[in-house]
Amino acid sequence: MSVCKSRITKMGAYSPPLEGRNADRHLLLDFNERTIPVSPKVRQALIDYIQTDHLQTYPAYGDLSQRIAEYAGVPSEQLMITNGSDQGIDLIIRATCNVGDEVIIPSPSFAMYNQIAQVEGAKIIEPEFTETGGFPVEGVLAAVTPATRLIVISNPNNPTGTLVSEADIVRIAQAAPDCAILVDECYFEYTRVTVKDHLTALPNLFITRTFSKTWGLPSIRLGYVMSATENINALLNIRGPYDVNQFAEVAVRAALDEPEYMQSFVSEVLEQSKPLLESFLHQHGIPFWPASANFIFAFPEQAEALNQQLQASGVLVRPKKNQQGKVGLRITLGTLEQTQRLVNELEKAISQQ
Ligand SMILES: Cc1ncc(COP(=O)(O)O)c(C=O)c1O
Repeated sequence: MSVCKSRITKMGAYSPPLEGRNADRHLLLDFNERTIPVSPKVRQALIDYIQTDHLQTYPAYGDLSQRIAEYAGVPSEQLMITNGSDQGIDLIIRATCNVGDEVIIPSPSFAMYNQIAQVEGAKIIEPEFTETGGFPVEGVLAAVTPATRLIVISNPNNPTGTLVSEADIVRIAQAAPDCAILVDECYFEYTRVTVKDHLTALPNLFITRTFSKTWGLPSIRLGYVMSATENINALLNIRGPYDVNQFAEVAVRAALDEPEYMQSFVSEVLEQSKPLLESFLHQHGIPFWPASANFIFAFPEQAEALNQQLQASGVLVRPKKNQQGKVGLRITLGTLEQTQRLVNELEKAISQQ
């Protein structure tokens, strides 16, 4: 018998399939990560920091929030840094939901929203994304009741890659002014679609972003939340003073000094790798969801067998179920060369089926 809350002991952990994953042996196309390492300048900044011999002191962030706010184009009082965007999601749900409140999380989507809503004891309502209709705008609006406290809009959505327009998000935020609207812009640099210009007019909007994806720094854990100043102040009452570590501060400062390094990878993915994989899928009649970030959710015949074959050839992709329980493969896009390798391995595996 655990002394922990019963709703927590009854839950399952969010445990992504990390076992056996090895960056030296595999082409990692399974976690939507950037597939090229950090730039030499970022690496050097981390080495230099270690050599200052200051690991024994607590982290100090200086004007890091201000620098990120400049990059994001919002006033610095509308932004706070977090330990990855996972922590931003956690803070927003903890700050807004009580036991029994309703939370709308269109599905399928990123697991953390559900995980944290369950921790808070919220009731989860899940309108469905569809391959043709995309984000269920009407389904979300119809699901709002006086008990709704939070609506999650993953933009673009993981795993489907679906983009939600700025106009649709504003419409939802205006229709449900008493609900927090969590807009997860984790993949922002791939889409450039954002609602950050509405933070003052719509004080129920919360945006989460991260340095884990396009910036290639998931290991150092830095995200940020943007919202109206009073919301940021409330979230700061929950976040610990040292939740972000010093390596994150050092690496992100260096990365922000050369945004062109990140941007050139984003351009390669969108302009070269994505068309290559999409044309392969079209040629083979493999259905896939229209996608706007660095991953494509595709439904080949015998997806699980194909996944095993790819794994045997050293290429990792991520099997995921759609709402009907059908298994698809969520495939991360890397450089053109990596995508060419993926396509070659897919070709081989399909011809052997
Ligand atoms: C939609 C979405 N939000 C948030 C995250 C978590 O990102 P972070 O590493 O910043 O916690 C992910 C990671 O896969 C994601 O896909």
